Amino acid sequence: MKIVILTGAGISAESGLGTFRDAGGLWEKYPIEQVATPEGFAADPALVHGFYNARRANSQSAAPNAAHDALAKLEGKIGENLLIVTQNVDDLHERAGSKSVWHMHGALNRAKCAACEQTWNAPSEMHPDDPCPHCRTPATRPDIVWFGEMPYYMEEIYDRLHQADLFVSIGTSGNVYPAAGFVQEAANAGARTLELNLEPSLGASSFDESRNGPASQIVPEWVDSLLKG
Ligand code: APR
Repeated sequence: MKIVILTGAGISAESGLGTFRDAGGLWEKYPIEQVATPEGFAADPALVHGFYNARRANSQSAAPNAAHDALAKLEGKIGENLLIVTQNVDDLHERAGSKSVWHMHGALNRAKCAACEQTWNAPSEMHPDDPCPHCRTPATRPDIVWFGEMPYYMEEIYDRLHQADLFVSIGTSGNVYPAAGFVQEAANAGARTLELNLEPSLGASSFDESRNGPASQIVPEWVDSLLKG
């Protein structure tokens, strides 16, 4: 059985990493335009680097939770029949042991050159005039996909959605496209679809089934039931 799993901020909430749109979420504290757009970075690169330096430190001090562990266990059983596409920029899936993880919105532990577009492993702190290790231009930015930029792996993701037997969405509100459209893409290609979320998301009605509860509880329960089945 080929499975594609989409994860969002909700899977990392119980690891202590804030979500974006829940009460007290990140976007209540920081204007998206200022810290999550190319224009915001151009206007104040030091402020944007400061925002991601803080999120990088936060993410490094967090630990994977039982939901991340359950998905790593599932990959251990079904191998390359499982793909995790994550909107998250933390590395909790990898630290739980998952190998096949595609970060469609980029990753906090990667840096990118705004001049030559090459990427490298990010240092814990980044500053606007850090030179690119490839072309030496002082144009370092976080390797994060901002609003208005093209997410990574889109072609490959659609290929995998079209081959999937099961699409599972975990911990995402269904607010942001193209990820919010993946359930329809998979369903149209014949996949069964399941949502595992604290509460019904915006797109809950598009799923064959929607189970609600904290990810650290309902994801391990789902994995165990799948592996027993
Ligand atoms: N267990 C399961 N789900 C949870 C939990 C939890 N413990 N806590 C919160 N959730 C759910 C919320 O109900 C919500 O539906 O996680 C979802 C978080 O939604 P958002 O904060 O909108 O995060 P996300 O869907 O990942 O945002 C998508 O938007 O801002 C951009 O690039 C950013 O990748 C992000 C994208």
